[in-house]
Amino acid sequence: VTDPLTERLSGWQRRVESELRAWLPADTAMPERLHAAQRYSVLGPGKRIRPALVYATAETLGASSGLVDAPACAVELIHAYSLVHDDLPAMDDDDLRRGRPTCHRAFDEATAILAGDSLQVLAFKLLASHPGGPADAATRVRLIDILADASGTAGMAGGQALDLAAEGRSLTVAEVERIHALKTGALIRASVLMAAHCAPRSDADALRALGEFGAAVGLAFQIQDDILDVEGDAALRGRPAGSDAARELPTYPAVAGLAAAKARVAELHERAARLLEERGWGAGPLAELAAWLLARRR
Ligand code: IPE
Ligand code: IPE
Ligand code: MG
Ligand code: MG
Ligand code: MG
Repeated sequence: VTDPLTERLSGWQRRVESELRAWLPADTAMPERLHAAQRYSVLGPGKRIRPALVYATAETLGASSGLVDAPACAVELIHAYSLVHDDLPAMDDDDLRRGRPTCHRAFDEATAILAGDSLQVLAFKLLASHPGGPADAATRVRLIDILADASGTAGMAGGQALDLAAEGRSLTVAEVERIHALKTGALIRASVLMAAHCAPRSDADALRALGEFGAAVGLAFQIQDDILDVEGDAALRGRPAGSDAARELPTYPAVAGLAAAKARVAELHERAARLLEERGWGAGPLAELAAWLLARRR
């Protein structure tokens, strides 16, 4: 009998959090303020959905959790850095994140910029040197390559640039989907792909299916995030509702309407589920996790 998803999720959360706590420099070490800002930004109450996707993919492919601790931490570190910079006055200018002041509010802007910079490089350091990771150097280089692509101009940073350039302009649905796929989809897809590359028995077809699965879930995840900004519970989310509309950010509901946004999430979820079913993974942890992610309220 396997545990219900909620128990496995909290197991994965505890696992990645204890790894992150151990790898992040102590805030008693110099420069104390920067280390405190790093720890504040990473160890706050996040959902850890990218690490959960790493662990669920590893489980699906028969790889141990220990083998994928490095990519689980690495993707969460890139995510945390992306949020710290996303909240800066030059970007979304948000004061609240995960129910607490954003990094630049709790510390200061320069510290927040440096916290983001240093979290980003820590992610790549872990892929290079975490002792639990894949033994062969070629696999480690592959993981670094996947995460670099997903974080850079062909991924998160590129999507953030397009997102900001679109502020106040009217976009087509296709343009919004492209931004969402880059700014959020790429890291979610990379979570699944990095775990798949660690598993000894993943063939080219499995990698293709998992890549498409990750892209579908990633796009749907950002559309759901936009939906929650319109009709979500501010207390549950730990941030005020309506901040996207206030900033005229290019969101899916703003461009296509709320009903179309919800229909698109359902359609992408169906596609993701079908990709898993075709590989015989329709009842496993990845399918359960995808369903949970896309029905979430926070
Ligand atoms: C928020 O991501 C930003 C997006 C990319 C949509 P999450 O909803 O995963 O944020 P945390 O980590 O749980 O706070
Ligand atoms: C976040 O998009 C995407 C990132 C790469 C950080 P949002 O700007 O919608 O994320 P939230 O709503 O602030 O978490
Ligand atoms: Mg943003
Ligand atoms: Mg934002
Ligand atoms: Mg948002």
